[in-house]
Amino acid sequence: MPRDAQGHLVPGRIAPALPIPAGIPRPEYVGRPGPREYTGDDIYSPAEIELIRESGRIAAQAIEAVGAAIRPGVTTNELDVIAHEFIVGHEAYPSTVGYRGYPKAVCTSINEVVCHGIPDDTVLVEGDIINLDITAFQSGVHGDLNKTFIVGTASPDASALVERTQEALARGIKAVAPGREINVIGRAIESYAKRFGYGVVRDFTGHGVGTAFHSGLVVPHYDAAPDFGTVMVPGMVFTIEPMLTLGTPEKPGTVAWDLWADDWTVTTRDKSLTAQFEHTIVVTERGADILTLP
Ligand code: MF3
Ligand code: CO
Ligand code: CO
Repeated sequence: MPRDAQGHLVPGRIAPALPIPAGIPRPEYVGRPGPREYTGDDIYSPAEIELIRESGRIAAQAIEAVGAAIRPGVTTNELDVIAHEFIVGHEAYPSTVGYRGYPKAVCTSINEVVCHGIPDDTVLVEGDIINLDITAFQSGVHGDLNKTFIVGTASPDASALVERTQEALARGIKAVAPGREINVIGRAIESYAKRFGYGVVRDFTGHGVGTAFHSGLVVPHYDAAPDFGTVMVPGMVFTIEPMLTLGTPEKPGTVAWDLWADDWTVTTRDKSLTAQFEHTIVVTERGADILTLP
């Protein structure tokens, strides 16, 4: 079923919403069409950073729990149930549930799906690659991360893409330092991706995160200089979440993706494989500290 004759993903059936205990505080956007405009900044106190780290830890542990269930035959809805139960079981709110109408606790993005795939009755098969993206909200702050997993054994091309996308995130994180412009992050990511002829998705970016799920601060994954010249300062919190594709690098301004009728699922236009990794980080005096570790 949810694959066409060429093996490409097609929309499946989305299960009804799961309950979230009334005692778990909701982000402000839940029950509204979207978030209110965020007027705060992206710089947090040490105490606030520890709260973001705690939300990030819950999200990271949830990814581990869901990742351990990945195998041929499992559906993405079954993965969502694990994510949902883990997060609410740790007294946190799954930030994506009710965010601009998104229905589930995890984004499950398989093969040519770039990001924001919705869990449904799609069955994982040997050789798929699947990204899990989870954000947890607790004590008024969000922690956001994602990882790409391989189902069983994948092709050498797919495995290399996954490994190098993880390395691209690591290089983006290493580029973080106070006094540098935020565009150095994308420069490091893009120059690494180019070595392998990979495409870098330009239209989805990293973002400020903390009190707001998406604060308005944008972190490009390509070399955007002299734009996006915000200078990093200690205490600044944001995500880095590069999406690389096996397809040809996008030319500036070109759109190499399609959006499904569900208004969420983004695929590469050429259906080439794509992988992503994400962490929430805080800028420190020495570089970056990852806030989304288990
Ligand atoms: N967690 C995603 C990010 O990295 C956002 C997902 S929004 C959703 O920014 F609604 F699609 F879940
Ligand atoms: Co994010
Ligand atoms: Co995310």
